[in-house]
Amino acid sequence: MNEDSPRIRRLGAEEAARRNTELAGLLIDCVEGGASVGFLLPVDRERTGAFWRMVAEGLAAGTRILLVAEDRADGSLLGTVQIVLGQPENQPHRGDLSKMLVHRRARRRGVGAALMNAAEEAARSAGKTLLVLDTSTEEAERLYERAGWVRTGTVPGYALMPDGRPGRTTFFHKHL
Ligand SMILES: CC(C)(COP(=O)(O)OP(=O)(O)OC[C@H]1O[C@@H](n2cnc3c(N)ncnc32)[C@H](O)[C@@H]1OP(=O)(O)O)[C@@H](O)C(=O)NCCC(=O)NCCS
Repeated sequence: MNEDSPRIRRLGAEEAARRNTELAGLLIDCVEGGASVGFLLPVDRERTGAFWRMVAEGLAAGTRILLVAEDRADGSLLGTVQIVLGQPENQPHRGDLSKMLVHRRARRRGVGAALMNAAEEAARSAGKTLLVLDTSTEEAERLYERAGWVRTGTVPGYALMPDGRPGRTTFFHKHL
């Protein structure tokens, strides 16, 4: 670890609610950068803020884990990732890795990899033995493969890209 490495922390419901604007800003940055993460352009504070309020509710209910990567110098938000713990009763062992987001200004210096390590560790600690995720981003596909995830398959036209064009979505899984 050095001064440049991000600080990875778990956020509770209260802090997530307090940092709603910052989290919304990160999500907006990623969508405006072309990431297909549930939103279409033009993306705004209202919809992204509502998304993070829903996440804070999940944190309060214990159905999610939220991790953030922060700049060690000023505490600013560099990236985030979630594990969705709440699953149907026949899938208690499974979690979904969701909303892996790194701000464009902080990319390509290992923030994504650090978040991925911490997310897997958190899922393991929560008793999960299988993680699943889906992505439409090539950079993310490379990150997941480096972390030992298995490419399960690709569904053409599964979701729209931020500009409204249909995109392909690739599913990955990892047994922990
Ligand atoms: C996918 C994403 C999370 C990756 O985040 P990141 O912090 O840039 O990831 P890393 O830094 O760990 O790895 C990215 C690249 O930087 C390289 N890298 C890592 N540390 C580096 C360093 N110190 N110096 C130079 N390169 C480095 C990695 O090898 C990797 O290279 P590659 O793209 O050629 O494979 C980020 O691009 C993102 O947020 N995208 C938009 C949102 C999105 O689509 N998320 C996925 C939704 S499922």
